[in-house]
Amino acid sequence: MTGGGSGIGRATAMTFARDGAVAVVVDRDAAAAAAVCDEIQSAGGDSIAITADVSSEQQVEEMVAATLAHYGRLDCVSNNAALGGGFNLLPDVDSRSWDRAQDVTLKGVWLCMKYQIPAMLASGGGSIVNIASLSGVNGEALQSPYSAAKGGVIALTKTAAAEYAQRGIRVNAVAPGGVRTPAIEDYFNKVPGAREKTEAVHAMRRLGEPEEIADAVCYLLSDRASFITGHVLDVSGGITINPHTL
Ligand SMILES: NC(=O)c1ccc[n+]([C@@H]2O[C@H](COP(=O)([O-])OP(=O)(O)OC[C@H]3O[C@@H](n4cnc5c(N)ncnc54)[C@H](O)[C@@H]3O)[C@@H](O)[C@H]2O)c1
Repeated sequence: MTGGGSGIGRATAMTFARDGAVAVVVDRDAAAAAAVCDEIQSAGGDSIAITADVSSEQQVEEMVAATLAHYGRLDCVSNNAALGGGFNLLPDVDSRSWDRAQDVTLKGVWLCMKYQIPAMLASGGGSIVNIASLSGVNGEALQSPYSAAKGGVIALTKTAAAEYAQRGIRVNAVAPGGVRTPAIEDYFNKVPGAREKTEAVHAMRRLGEPEEIADAVCYLLSDRASFITGHVLDVSGGITINPHTL
């Protein structure tokens, strides 16, 4: 679980552990990863914490090696860590913000799969769920670096799924709508009126809870989804349907 120290990643690690899986909690924030790992262990689960920045090839390679050294195999992963690129109209985005968003949000997912896939092949296969976003499907005003990176995550997911469908690895994505995490609170604090506007575009007229995304991720990771690959699951309380006349 990358980005497992907060929000959706934290909830997924907790759900995963509650379902009986070992949870390797990866985050660039060492204290956050350790806290989630402690929480899982206190509830009787099996977990280790690893500090890694997913935009660093060396750290990603070490992350997979440390997991294999500890548990001997890698069965399921959720590539969840991401970084936005600020909230600006496209001409006002600076190159540094653009590059950083691509490095973490898009290249990070590619780097993770680059090292996770060989590890999974070595033990007969596995399941990968990348966390995309509906911003990567529909675009999102004021978030061009993030939306473009998430669109890339969807293309990468389908490409990896096509490459490994015959070798026992399923690769899917979950595309959440707005979810009540520290990341979206940061957005609401920076963009006036964003909270009300965001809630309004969901047919359910509310944000999702991290646990609602976690359940979808854990389903796709599990054998219950054994015939699903290359799929992007919309978990958004109905952003893509039209309740506007009600
Ligand atoms: N919250 C939402 O509304 C929403 C909507 C759609 C998609 N998503 C996606 O869900 C995922 C999780 O988002 P969240 O809202 O839980 O965010 P969050 O900010 O609560 O948690 C993100 C975690 O990722 C870690 N992280 C950031 N950069 C990292 C890096 N380079 N290497 C390793 N760890 C790193 C952070 O330290 C943090 O613990 C992201 O991919 C995000 O784009 C979130």
